[in-house]
Amino acid sequence: MPQSSLPLPPGSFGLPVIGESVSYLHSPAIFMEKRQKQYGNIFKTHLFGFPTIVLIGAGAARFLFANEGQKFEMTNTPSFERLLGINSIGVVTGAAHQTLRKYLYQAFAPRALADYATTMQNITHRYLKRWEKMETLTWYPELKKYTLDIACQLFIGVATESEEALEKIYETWSDGLLSIPVRFPGNKFDKSIHAREELLAHFDKLIDQRLQHPAENQDVLTILLQAQDEEGKHLSREEVKDNLLGMLVAGHETLTSALTSLCLLLAQHPDVLVKAHVEQEQFKFSEPITQEDLKQMTYLEQVMKEVLRMAPPVVRSGLRKVLEPCEFAGYKIPQGWGVFYQIQETHQDQTIYSHPEKFDPNRFNTEKVEDKQKPFAHIPFGGGIRECLGKEFAKLEIKLFAALLIREYEWELAPRQNLERIVLPFSRPHDGLKVKFRKRGKLV
Ligand code: HEM
Repeated sequence: MPQSSLPLPPGSFGLPVIGESVSYLHSPAIFMEKRQKQYGNIFKTHLFGFPTIVLIGAGAARFLFANEGQKFEMTNTPSFERLLGINSIGVVTGAAHQTLRKYLYQAFAPRALADYATTMQNITHRYLKRWEKMETLTWYPELKKYTLDIACQLFIGVATESEEALEKIYETWSDGLLSIPVRFPGNKFDKSIHAREELLAHFDKLIDQRLQHPAENQDVLTILLQAQDEEGKHLSREEVKDNLLGMLVAGHETLTSALTSLCLLLAQHPDVLVKAHVEQEQFKFSEPITQEDLKQMTYLEQVMKEVLRMAPPVVRSGLRKVLEPCEFAGYKIPQGWGVFYQIQETHQDQTIYSHPEKFDPNRFNTEKVEDKQKPFAHIPFGGGIRECLGKEFAKLEIKLFAALLIREYEWELAPRQNLERIVLPFSRPHDGLKVKFRKRGKLV
């Protein structure tokens, strides 16, 4: 059938101008669930000013990844673009995106990761001791500090502990990402733009210092300043700064979410925690933990995969614009519309995952490997040419954190807290996960 005579996917555009954005923002999970039940795995809606098609499932993700850059292209709201910067990898498209990715990848290649592991472990030990002293804590904000500390140390060689001001400026900047993009003096968006300028000025100083005195330890900033293409061309200063900023957000909010979910799910599933602890007992004398050790922790790997399946930090992709008309599953996808693929719902597919609502790391053991039934069934990091650039960095940090935590500590959920999951901008429990925390065996 010619594309033009295919129907549009089912669904509704909602109200004029605002479309269905309000109900989506009110509860993205319920919004998706209701429409998926009503219309199936492909439907149309109207979000953030665009007629939009929502795609759910491994097949749909595969279709989008295969056509990324040809039929689809990343697009951002004007506020996002203003705050991230025009040189950011999240904004740049086409051939320029691919070139930029090659440069940035140099900071996340295996050799670079091996250098980061020791710093990650030192910072982890420091925080575990801090939480032990605190005895009761709300973990989400603590984990946010922890992941920001790691990101600042490894990306720009700065300890946020000694630079508390930096943490505050960063928070103001990131608050603006979900604000209304109208600027007037003193509003959230305006403050966020100022914070961006302050952060970039800070990066400028760091770059000047680095150019005069190269750092002893390789961090992301050093690697980006030295990165070259085949012709020996370097990234411009503006490219380095915009991408450092983007990586701070991409690299620490997502990890905070993943680690919080890991701690919550392990507290709710003591049987899994016991098994993970037994595995760690075999390695407890090996420190610092090497990449080789991590490879052998197969149960920990399964736990991490299951956490990222059940509670993916990013629940849906960034918005893509349709560059040329195409079709999927018997429906037309018109040029100029927006398209999203859904990570959360794809991970709940009953035809792939048995009892998908259950937390069960065994589904990824070598006999079952449920996710291998279809390509792109497990997509916490997206896929294709825009797959998460920090995927291996993130996996390293999650596993090191989990191994050190499980070896020596235990925690229990404090009573009377709301654990309901909020998914925007990143997945987290409503009250931030309140726990009692102590060294193993120290019963209170
Ligand atoms: C558990 C942690 C993380 C998760 C779940 C995650 C998830 C994702 C997802 C789903 C995408 C693709 C979005 C799309 O298709 O629209 C993405 C892209 C990206 N991520 Fe991550 N991420 C994580 C950690 C990190 C870290 C540590 C970094 C490192 C700085 C990072 C840097 C990036 C970058 C630069 C992109 C854009 C890639 C491109 O457009 O070419 N992420 N991430």
